[in-house]
Amino acid sequence: MSYKTLEARSLSGGLGAEIYGTNLKDHGNAELWDELQRALLEFKVIAVRGQSLSPIEQRDAARLFGEPNYYPFAQGLPDIPQMTLVVKEPHDRRNFGNGWHSDTPYLAEPPAITTLYAVETPARGGDTLFTNMQMAYEELSTGLRQLINGVTGVFSASLKYRPGGNRQEHHAKIKSMPVTNTENADRYESRHPIVRTHPQTGDKALYCSMAHTLHFEHMTERESQPIIKMLYEHAATPEFTCRLRWEPGTMTFWDNRCTMHNAINDYHGARREMRRLTVRPEKPV
Ligand SMILES: [Fe+2]
Repeated sequence: MSYKTLEARSLSGGLGAEIYGTNLKDHGNAELWDELQRALLEFKVIAVRGQSLSPIEQRDAARLFGEPNYYPFAQGLPDIPQMTLVVKEPHDRRNFGNGWHSDTPYLAEPPAITTLYAVETPARGGDTLFTNMQMAYEELSTGLRQLINGVTGVFSASLKYRPGGNRQEHHAKIKSMPVTNTENADRYESRHPIVRTHPQTGDKALYCSMAHTLHFEHMTERESQPIIKMLYEHAATPEFTCRLRWEPGTMTFWDNRCTMHNAINDYHGARREMRRLTVRPEKPV
């Protein structure tokens, strides 16, 4: 696919691209926004380099992809309540977003797209891994695809199967973030297909993770968990993934409908600050 208003450099054979030559404050350039939307569909993750965005400017750019969603477990900025800071201070040991997941699948209408803007990044480390869940689905055997097509997953915010503690324990240790409401995490539960169809491309993708999928409908947790674990390990196959190196001024958009991501916690002693805003609530089908 070719682009006139931007330069896209792919990050790997699996997914992801860096975008150069664009200014996300240029709202009047309809062709640019059309091409960014196309690039997001083509690459599933786009990291727009060299931006300088205030919180309001990030929101205004994100809005061109859809209306903002609330994140239930962190306090938002006073003037943009849907936008949350993701901060790890030098003394912190835990980070936010570690472990493979798609964002907030326990909501009835999870956000189709997440935007993350890098304010401050460590000199080394703090990269994010992404994986292509369409490819993960397509690379399953026909037998397994038949087995899981039409299966409904029960998605929970409890982080029950997270190694090292549930959401309340985990978030209590993320000291530098304005975490809130985690005592209610168990109440956030939704049912979605574990093979979902992308509404814009028609492509099927795996939608299932050890972080959030408790079990399959009409199956016990004991029966479901080995399959969830196998699908999760399959999704992390290196050929489906890319690794994004952040720098201040990188604004990344990713498509939660066909990817998972994993924030690597390898920068103890350094500070990292990002701003997160999700958009376009959409019921998975
Ligand atoms: Fe995330």
